[in-house]
This record gives sequence, C-alpha cells and structure tokens, in this order.
Amino acid sequence: MIISPSLLAADFSCLEQEIKRVEQHAEWLHLDIMDGHFVPNISFGVPVVKSLRKITNLFFDVHLMISHPLQYVESFADAGADMICFHVECEDNISEVINRIHTCGKKAGLALSPDTDVSVIGPYLKDVEMILIMSVYPGFGGQKFIPNSCSKIRELKGFIMRCPDVSNDLYIQVDGGIDEHTAHMVKDAGANVLVAGSYVFGTQNPEQSIYTLRYS
Ligand code: DX5
Ligand code: ZN
Repeated sequence: MIISPSLLAADFSCLEQEIKRVEQHAEWLHLDIMDGHFVPNISFGVPVVKSLRKITNLFFDVHLMISHPLQYVESFADAGADMICFHVECEDNISEVINRIHTCGKKAGLALSPDTDVSVIGPYLKDVEMILIMSVYPGFGGQKFIPNSCSKIRELKGFIMRCPDVSNDLYIQVDGGIDEHTAHMVKDAGANVLVAGSYVFGTQNPEQSIYTLRYS
C-alpha cells in the first residue's frame, strides 16, 4: 500500500516543515496542480515543485488538473516530478501526452473525474503506469467522498483482468475524501495508492493518520 499525502492541505507558509512531518512515514508526496481553467481553483506550479525537490527525496506524484498538460510535461519533469498524472477529460491528445511523459523518463498516470465512465480509459490502460479514480470533484480539498467511487474501482479491476497487455504492477490511486472509514472501502475495492490531504496534514499527528490509512 502506498500513501501519498496531498500537500494541498498543508500550511503553505512552511512547506518544508510540513513535508518533514510526513517524510519518514509516507512513500509518495501528492502535488496538486490547478490552472483555474480545468478546475475553478489555482494552487501552485513548476517553481514550487522545483524548490521542494531540493528538500526531500520523496517520490513526487504530480496531479495535473489543467486543460493543456502537453505543454507543461517537460517543465514538471525537469522540476523533479516522478509520476505525472493528467486528466482524460483534458483538451490535449491523450496518447501524445502519455508519450511525452515517457520520453521525459517519467511514469504516466491517467485521472478520471467522478462523472467520467471507466470505459473511457480502456484504450490507454496498457500504456500508463497508474489510473487515478477521483472520489471527489477535482479542485478543492476537504470534500466528502463520493460512494460510487468504489464500484468504479471494481469496474476498473474487471477491465484490467480482461486486458492481457495491462501490467500487473498498475497503480490504482484514489484521491478525495480519504479517511479512516473510506480508506478501508477503497482498499477493499482494489486501490493500492491512497491520496489524503486534510486527513493527514489537518491533524496534529500525521504519522498516526498515515498508519491508520495503511492498516485500517
Ligand atoms: C482535489 C485534489 C486532492 C485533494 C484531496 O482536487 O486532487 O488531492 O487535495 O484532499 P482531501 O484528502 O482533503 O479530500
Ligand atoms: Zn489530487
């Protein structure tokens, strides 16, 4: 099980200290990039990722909630992203974005918003290292988990099983509203990477939260 705390819920006035609170306990760090166009919110961009790269060796799991990922892939790769995940609902050619990410030597992830049918990612399943099932509408932290996300994960698992070319190592990530109750549900459904923002950074004891997510 991989836990990827979402920095969106951290105190932006002291990001280094915030990262140190989770660094020894989590495998990945989830970095939400929002452009104010694909989603109605703006977070942070390439220069922040680049600065953070200097202070931690955590695996950088970059979640691009942007309309045009293609033109930013190289910048995020150079800034130190390890995984670059973008939305299947974006306005660029999906295969082209995946290829660009791989050309940069990074892992590629494809994200699905709550209203998008799982079947949409069928053609790309064998080409990516991760599928992200969004369990809230992208754009904001602290929202309530959408329960039918579990059936989407199960459906995705079914697709993977029927598709012989898909790697057994495919990461299935869930993002949004993950806490001690929902973690159990999504793991049961087949998720192996849990993103959690407020549940980890919004507490006094992130180590305990990460432990709970991992073992609940
Ligand atoms: C939402 C972001 C999430 C967010 C999750 O658009 O993609 O990563 O930070 O926050 P919580 O865990 O608080 O729902
Ligand atoms: Zn995210």
